[in-house]
Amino acid sequence: MKKLAPLLIAFFFFSCSSKEEITQQQYSIEGMGLYKTHCENCHQADGSGLRDLYPSIQKSNVSPEVLACLIKNGKKGNGFMPANAKLQALDIAELITFMRERWGGKKQIFPADSVKLALKNCP
Ligand code: HEC
Repeated sequence: MKKLAPLLIAFFFFSCSSKEEITQQQYSIEGMGLYKTHCENCHQADGSGLRDLYPSIQKSNVSPEVLACLIKNGKKGNGFMPANAKLQALDIAELITFMRERWGGKKQIFPADSVKLALKNCP
C-alpha cells in the first residue's frame, strides 16, 4: 500500500486539474501548428529570429493584447511583418497560448473572447 500512495496521489492530482489543463494543452498544440505555418519562416522554430531581419521573440515582453493585434494586423516598423487577416480569434488565442507556454513558461490559456476584445481596441 505504501508504494501505491504516490501513484494514487498522482492519479487524483491529474484527474482534478485535468479539464483546464487539457484545454490549455489543446490550444497549445493547435497553436504550435499555426506558429509553424505562419510565423516560423521568419522568427524560426526556437523563436530566435534571423539576425537583423527578424527580431527574436524569445524574450519579447509584448502583452497578449498587443500580440493579438500584431498577429492580426501585422506591423511596419524598421522591418515588415505581414498581417494575418484570415486568422480567426480562436486561432490567435491558440497561437498566444502556445507562445506564452513556449517562451513565457506560463501554462495559461488566453481565451478567444479576450482576443476579440483586444482586436476591437487595436491602435
Ligand atoms: C515575413 C516575416 C514575418 C512573419 C511571417 C512573422 N513575423 Fe513577427 N515580426 C517580423 C518583423 C520584421 C518584426 C519587427 C517589426 C518592426 O517592429 O519593425 C516582427 C515582430 C514581431 C513581434 C514583436 C517582437 C517585439 O518584442 O517587439 C512578435 C511578438 C512577433 N513578430 C510575432 C509573430 C508571430 C506570432 C507571427 C505569426 C503569426 C509572426 N510574428 C510572423 C517578421 C515576421
